[in-house]
Amino acid sequence: MASPRTRSIAPPVAPPDLWDPVVRLTHWGVAVAVLLNALVTKGGSLTHVSLGWLVMALLLLRLVWGVLGPAEARFSAFPPNPVAAARHLRQLLSGQPGYYSSHNPAGALMVYVFWAALAVVTATGLILTGGATPMRVAAEKAAVASGDWSALIVKSDGESSDDEDKGLRHTAEEVHEVAANLLLFLAALHVAGVVLESRAMRRNLVKPMILGDAHRRK
Ligand code: HEM
Ligand code: HEM
Repeated sequence: MASPRTRSIAPPVAPPDLWDPVVRLTHWGVAVAVLLNALVTKGGSLTHVSLGWLVMALLLLRLVWGVLGPAEARFSAFPPNPVAAARHLRQLLSGQPGYYSSHNPAGALMVYVFWAALAVVTATGLILTGGATPMRVAAEKAAVASGDWSALIVKSDGESSDDEDKGLRHTAEEVHEVAANLLLFLAALHVAGVVLESRAMRRNLVKPMILGDAHRRK
């Protein structure tokens, strides 16, 4: 079985034929939904909440896949290791990056930070919407549009004070926006990292994330 550890100093090989359909689907699904929610949709709209729930589902699927998926997709193939990440960056600067059969140690750290930021953005989104599913959001919007406001009134349980609710909401709103901006910043750093790494290793890292191993089977 392929070892996730460094095998040798950068052989000018074809890209490792990685990334099964689940990794690719969850990657591009999350990437597109995050960019749409951060840059295009209106916060709190039905489209925004639906894309947010899609991200939650994809993230959950990817985390399960980290235990059940093929070797290169498992958490054990890319453990978070800051020392190895620093070593990898030094090797990259000296033009001799190591070769890994999963994410390199610097990329691995970024992946875990991505997942943590996604968990924060979705958890705060759930707080902001009181856990309402997109179906419920759609039903409430339809009810309000037809003049029936009762769907919104039943949200209040009468136990927590308005001030507490407002405080929690305000904090959730702030954290939600900061985490969303962090995701955008990380995405920019991530794409720069992919480009740098692809150049240094003379292999196209994006191709296996799009095609998987389809190009190898031909
Ligand atoms: C998936 C990644 C997500 C990103 C990148 C994201 C990003 C954002 C941003 C940038 C805003 C502020 C924009 C604005 O004021 O129009 C916002 C607002 C909001 N988001 Fe998200 N969001 C995400 C997921 C979610 C989820 C999962 C939910 C709910 C389940 C949600 C619910 C909301 C709500 C209710 C607001 C309005 C907050 C307010 O009242 O100002 N978001 N989101
Ligand atoms: C908001 C946008 C994005 C997010 C949140 C994101 C997130 C991630 C995550 C979490 C992974 C780990 C994949 C896994 O193991 O499941 C990853 C890997 C990867 N991403 Fe992205 N990504 C984004 C945009 C992009 C874009 C635009 C590109 C194209 C240049 C890209 C190219 C890649 C590649 C090539 C890998 C594999 C890197 C390797 O070989 O180790 N990503 N990304």
